[in-house]
Parts: sequence; structure tokens; C-alpha cells
Amino acid sequence: MHADIDGRRIHFTDSQTPGVRPLIFIHGFPFSHEMWAPQIEAVGGLRRSIAFDLRGFGKSDPGSTPFTIEFMVDDLIGLMDHLRLEKATLCGLSMGGYIALRAVERHPDRVEALVLCDTRAEADADAGKIGRAGAVASIARDGVGPFAEGFMKKLFVEQSFANRPDAVATIRRIMLANSAAAMMGHLVSMAARTDTTAALPSIAVPTLILVGEGDVLTPPDNSRAMAEAIPGAKLHVIPGAGHMSNMENPDEFNRRLVEFLRGL
Ligand code: MLT
Repeated sequence: MHADIDGRRIHFTDSQTPGVRPLIFIHGFPFSHEMWAPQIEAVGGLRRSIAFDLRGFGKSDPGSTPFTIEFMVDDLIGLMDHLRLEKATLCGLSMGGYIALRAVERHPDRVEALVLCDTRAEADADAGKIGRAGAVASIARDGVGPFAEGFMKKLFVEQSFANRPDAVATIRRIMLANSAAAMMGHLVSMAARTDTTAALPSIAVPTLILVGEGDVLTPPDNSRAMAEAIPGAKLHVIPGAGHMSNMENPDEFNRRLVEFLRGL
């Protein structure tokens, strides 16, 4: 399915489960809605699951403007308007979490609850911004392939390469299918994002924070800081997982997610 948002085609899936509240999944960089397959299955009849491709990724159009996290929030709200959803639970991983955090800051009345996975509220420090510029330069020079291979090593804990070959293959396939232009655009967008730390104490919706114990990109300390700052937030560290905690240990991730959704 797709929605026409501001003249841009945004691709999404919708379980259309009747009689239950909506849950919108927001993927990380540089993936697509496909990364959420294990959660959409686990949530089953409990929620209407909607998963969309961020602009430029998967099957969504890039459009003609530069990317910013602000525009990703606009696309999310545009999709909710298209689907006539007044409120939804937002579940975002990493860059998806940056978007969810900025969405709840800008549109608190549109968010029922938050699930923040392997993410952080802090904006990039200078070293991070310089690293992003290096990544853009490497993609411009060598294409998506070498960047994707190097990035894989940061996404998964060592044992996942042996124990979760399907997850590893899926993520590699998704990354390699994305365009260099979209990857570079999202890298610059992440480098330019706002810091949402100061807004955390104002979050007034139930919040679940999940993080892989071996996440090196957004380590558990970032999650602990968010859990301390967001009133009533619950934090669970997912064992045997790195940055892709939803795919590396889906049993534990889904158990925590379903438990949270049932309690709402
Ligand atoms: C992601 O998974 O979305 C990215 O690793 C986030 C980032 O690079 O900051």
C-alpha cells in the first residue's frame, strides 16, 4: 500500500486488524519496514500494526528536498492523517527512535505510548558529525556495498552471525537494495537532528525502552539515561543482542513488547 503525502509516495503495510488500537513501527538507518516482520507477527491481534518505509528507503519516494528528521516526523503525521488515526503507539528503533522522540515532542496529542528501541535522545557530538561526513564520503566514493559490509559488524553481536543467519541476511539484503543517495541523505539528516534530551521529562505517555546488551551504536547507557529522565519509563536490556535487538533476540524482545502493550 502507499499514501501520497505532500506529492511523495510513502509505502506502508497495514495489518488492518479490526477493533484494536494502532501501533506504528518506524525503522532504523538504513533499513526498511521489513525489519519489523517478527514484531508484526508477535503483536498479532493485539494491535493494528502499521509499518512504513521512510522517504528514500524501501519502496518510498525520496522526493526532491534534502532529508531532515523534521520531515520524517511530517511523513509520520501525514501517514496518520491519511489513515485517519488520531493517536497511535509509536515503536522506533535507532533512527526510528529519533523520529519517535521528536514526534512526541512536536505532537504529544498524537501519541498514545512509546516504544524506544536501541536509540538515544542526545544529538550527535562533533566526533559523530565528522564520522557521518566520513560515511557520506565513503558511500560517494565506493558505493553502498563496502559501507554496508562495514556497518553490519556494528549492528550485530558476534554470535548473531552464527545463530541468526536469517536476520543477518535480511538486513544485508535490505541495506544493499537502498540507494546511495538515500543513505547519504539520511546520514546528513541524522547529523543535523535536534537533541531531545530536555524534552524527556515532559513525555507524559507510557514508555517502554528496549536495548540489546551488546549494542555498540546506541549503548545501554543511553537507554538508562532516557529511562531515568522519562517519568515512569520501563527499561529492559535484551540479552544476546546488539543494535538489532528485535531481530537478534525476537523472543525476549517480543515478550517485553507484548507485555507492555497488554498493560496499556
Ligand atoms: C540506526 O540504526 O538507525 C543508526 O545506526 C542510527 C545512527 O547511526 O545514529
